[in-house]
Amino acid sequence: MNYQKPDYWADRARKEAYPARSVYKLKEIEEKFGLFKRAVSGTLHILDLGAAPGSWSLYSLRKLHVRCTLTAADLNELSRQYDAGLFDGDNFSFIQGDITRTETREALLLRGPFDLMMSDAAPSTTGNRQVDTCRSLDLAEAVLTYAESGLKRGGNLVLKVFQGSETVDFLKRIRSIFFAGKTFKPEACRPTSFETYIIGLGKLK
Ligand SMILES: C[S@@+](CC[C@H](N)C(=O)[O-])C[C@H]1O[C@@H](n2cnc3c(N)ncnc32)[C@H](O)[C@@H]1O
Repeated sequence: MNYQKPDYWADRARKEAYPARSVYKLKEIEEKFGLFKRAVSGTLHILDLGAAPGSWSLYSLRKLHVRCTLTAADLNELSRQYDAGLFDGDNFSFIQGDITRTETREALLLRGPFDLMMSDAAPSTTGNRQVDTCRSLDLAEAVLTYAESGLKRGGNLVLKVFQGSETVDFLKRIRSIFFAGKTFKPEACRPTSFETYIIGLGKLK
């Protein structure tokens, strides 16, 4: 098998000038759950965690323009290949750092409160499903602490998690913090991947 052969989503991302195929996961989630709707009547303040190479940020900036402010963070730098200056805009800021560290968290939350938090953050995989799932859950827990203190009442959360036995309990916690909590696997996820997205809609307080 030729693993280099670009698949449909990667090919489409290149044609539409996005640095990663993951943009189509956000597109599907955003459209299905109406995550950008609130920008119709005002500015949407968004936090994008695990943002590199930058497709989710780029998608949001292209779709919302000045109707959003976007704060992004990642261990790695963003790709500047396709942003056409959008990452230099006044409504965008980026912090390079580990989102699980206190100093990164404090710096990011200072830019809040946010209407929407989205996290596509994923650990480097080891191939050991138990280890990978556990690390992914640690990241999801960290993201949830951001949401607990920095997401506005009524705000929405999207986060990636590798599915495991703990996912059910995590979803229960989401449902205690949000009006509704759902899991959703977009079409652009590789069929073999055990990632899924957890969506928290309407933070209760
Ligand atoms: C799948 S990629 C995100 C793709 C991105 N949504 C896009 O569309 O371009 C996952 C990212 O999570 C980041 N990440 C993983 N652990 C992190 C951590 N502790 N702090 C910050 N970023 C992290 C990785 O560096 C990687 O860039």
